[in-house]
Amino acid sequence: MPELRVTAPAKINLHLEVLGLRPDGFHELAMVMQTLDLADTLVIAPTADGAISLSTDAPDLPTGAANLIVRSAEQLRQRVGLPELGAAIRLEKRIPIGAGLAGGSSDAAAALVGLNELWGCGLEAAELHAIAASLGSDVPYCLEGGTRLCFGRGEILEPLPGARPAEAPDLGVLLIKHPDASVSTPWAYGRCRQLRGDFYLEGEADFAQRRDALRHGPLPVALRGEGPLPRLRNDLQAVVEPEVASVREGLALLRRAEGALAVAMSGSGPSLFALFPGPGAAAAAQRQLEADLARAGFQAWCCRCTGSGASLLPDAPQP
Ligand code: C5P
Repeated sequence: MPELRVTAPAKINLHLEVLGLRPDGFHELAMVMQTLDLADTLVIAPTADGAISLSTDAPDLPTGAANLIVRSAEQLRQRVGLPELGAAIRLEKRIPIGAGLAGGSSDAAAALVGLNELWGCGLEAAELHAIAASLGSDVPYCLEGGTRLCFGRGEILEPLPGARPAEAPDLGVLLIKHPDASVSTPWAYGRCRQLRGDFYLEGEADFAQRRDALRHGPLPVALRGEGPLPRLRNDLQAVVEPEVASVREGLALLRRAEGALAVAMSGSGPSLFALFPGPGAAAAAQRQLEADLARAGFQAWCCRCTGSGASLLPDAPQP
């Protein structure tokens, strides 16, 4: 079988609400996630020797057994009871690392999709979802992508009420990240618990009420294009912003963008984004802020929202 190519899109959080603490020590969340057209690519080829190897153009990324791509491959071949299956995986990294954009989780989801195909495992979506959930809270969402409500640890997925599947909001996104900044997700949640733990909700009835408030609140309406975009909420932003200077500086810069509908941090940061009525307005804002972003050392990407998660790419045309 020839090599396969799989796309692994980045996500942003359009809403991240920390509801409380779960018995398993994770946080109970209510989120809206959205995939972007900024993506890594995995190129996967079979090997006959039963080895799983990973190479990448990202110099700082570990490629051994700790990498989530390698762990995905190992979990999958264990699940189908064929430990002799091998693969050589090359990761073309475009999503910034440690940024709150689920780059690592999306790579893991892409490895599951690609290897399920390459190895002919034939696992159904629900079975891939179960493996994904064991790899990380965001990995199941990264399999599906699009605009989704995510509950539980993040692994319980729902379409937005009234939204058509695979349809993405026609928003432009200006995404920025300072290359020297990175935030550890466990640290951000730990700090959140320290600062806000006394105010966490405690019972399922309260959690269910917050989930309903999100489902039937103004954000899904706005994302269907039927109302104004509300102020975006990310509870981890309140925790990270006071601690990370580049997050404060980046938010202040984005708030100056002409035509921005909303500005927020993604996930546990430190990447930040502004939303615009369309891709043209996002591109204009990037030009407006270009000099200031460069002076402050930010990387910037102008993106569109997309309707799908990790997926096989069509074969490259032969020269
Ligand atoms: O599931 P994942 O490996 O992405 O989570 C990384 C860390 O983030 C967890 O170890 C935990 O500290 C924190 N986390 C959490 N609640 C969640 C998701 C993540 O506390 N729902």
